[in-house]
Amino acid sequence: MKKLILLGVMSTLFLTTACARSETIFDKVPFLKNIVQNDKNGQAVEEPIEENPIEQKNDDLNSQSKQEITLNDIFFNQIKEVNGQKIILNPDNTMALVNKQFGLPETFLPSDLVRPKVNFSFGNQKIDKSLMRKEAAVALEKMFKEAVRNGIELFAVSGYRSYDYQESLFHAEVDKVGLDKAVEAVAVPGQSEHQTGLAMDISSRAENMLLTAEFGNSKEGKWLTENAHRFGFILRYPKGKESITGYQYEAWHFRYIGINAATIIHENKWTLEEYFQIVKKV
Ligand code: DAL
Ligand code: ZN
Repeated sequence: MKKLILLGVMSTLFLTTACARSETIFDKVPFLKNIVQNDKNGQAVEEPIEENPIEQKNDDLNSQSKQEITLNDIFFNQIKEVNGQKIILNPDNTMALVNKQFGLPETFLPSDLVRPKVNFSFGNQKIDKSLMRKEAAVALEKMFKEAVRNGIELFAVSGYRSYDYQESLFHAEVDKVGLDKAVEAVAVPGQSEHQTGLAMDISSRAENMLLTAEFGNSKEGKWLTENAHRFGFILRYPKGKESITGYQYEAWHFRYIGINAATIIHENKWTLEEYFQIVKKV
């Protein structure tokens, strides 16, 4: 039954026909609306995003910096379209762009999940959400150690999530707040970065280890916002970029992408979506 409900939800989110529900959701997320229109017009799907609805917002960036930012081909999504949904064929890519446009295969399970040696909100329990991919786990350990050296105590709250676990979280959120609100807060299964093993939700003692917007104003949240890029992480869903990411501000959700891209994104105050619109494939 839940699978059926979910399929309905996903169809609602992806269908480009003019049913009332999809209009409501996509109207709230102009960036997605643009993408859907592009798809209808038959834009190439192997490039992350061909049209650039955000480019006008970045007029302050000089054209020189746009030209200089390049990225090896292997770090771009390779996409296959299945039943109108764009599925990432190279989900092992540490720079995978996972969002409301590009989803992971249901069966994708990272092969190198490990438990980083950091403090967890749930102590020593051996649970899936303590896991991250090796490269991200090493970076997280370095970041947490550097935080301690700066008098900042961080707690990891939620890392890897399976497709099925994300499905249960999504249903729980729909039951709690309804579909319209749920899609702004929780990814539908297949569209969560947590399934990549490259994301970690982080909190502090002051926030009672909860995931709160106030964390962003705390000394721990501010330290992370200013320093995470040095370790390859970005604040993935920043305040003011909701129409681009498709999600509400999440002061706690940090995504590993590697130091180079994280630094560029931090310095330009971009999202991962904006980065992939500007970076040139080489
Ligand atoms: N809260 C983020 C968007 C997720 O569910 O992955
Ligand atoms: Zn998260």
